[in-house]
Amino acid sequence: MSEVKEAVRSRYANAAKLIAVLPVDSKAGCCAVDGPDCGCAGSYAEAELKEIGLTDSVSLGCGNPTMLADLKPGEIVLDLGSGAGLDVLLSARRVSPGGHAYGVDMTDEMLELANRNRAKAGITNATFLTGSIDNVPLADASVDVVISNCVINLAEDKAAVIREAYRILRPGGRFAVADMVELEALAPALKKQLDTWAGCISGTIPIDEYRAALVAAGFAEPEFEVHATQVLPGAGKVGSAYIRASKPA
Ligand SMILES: C[S@@+](CC[C@H](N)C(=O)[O-])C[C@H]1O[C@@H](n2cnc3c(N)ncnc32)[C@H](O)[C@@H]1O
Repeated sequence: MSEVKEAVRSRYANAAKLIAVLPVDSKAGCCAVDGPDCGCAGSYAEAELKEIGLTDSVSLGCGNPTMLADLKPGEIVLDLGSGAGLDVLLSARRVSPGGHAYGVDMTDEMLELANRNRAKAGITNATFLTGSIDNVPLADASVDVVISNCVINLAEDKAAVIREAYRILRPGGRFAVADMVELEALAPALKKQLDTWAGCISGTIPIDEYRAALVAAGFAEPEFEVHATQVLPGAGKVGSAYIRASKPA
């Protein structure tokens, strides 16, 4: 495992342990338990959370991709970097009856937490898989919707992750993701900091680069909507964005 990937894995192994003991009325924050709130707060409906017996205290995301995806009963959903499982469990309810929600994550501690949350929610149409988001253990064209929440920015090769999402989606399938993006060039020194990378800042790329990677993979009509911004004094600016695209039918 590369140094960057190991820094990411180790941060989220620790985060999983902290989330498990966090009071339910506190918010873990974006990407890291000590991070800022970068757009996730309030984006989940209370009633929906209540149905699965969780609060957004378990989210380390930067938005609510399940809101973007317009999920329907019978659909198959995959969440890249599913963490504690909130978006997978919400998706599982929305695609029921007949559908299934998968989450893939590389961090064992997160997978254990997600499985505990699934048991607590009493949800049977959700599965958490061990794997890397650039090498997902699912067949070609096997999924209707790929979601992800604040994860793709953590990958060293974002284009490879986007190509993998394209491979797994069936023709006509949707990509509906919340992610951090670079809005003003980050200071070069910041780009090299492993902890800031694992905190969803240093690995961000500009929207134009993200769009080009989606188009190069074959996606049509990529759309970006920035919904929260974070200025890093003297070192650039990042933001949380909702990103949508589709695989041509
Ligand atoms: C910022 S957290 C977000 C978790 C979840 N999506 C949420 O919204 O709460 C990032 C998650 O992605 C996982 N992750 C990061 N890079 C990954 C990779 N290359 N392959 C698989 N999982 C990865 C981490 O283990 C962690 O659980």
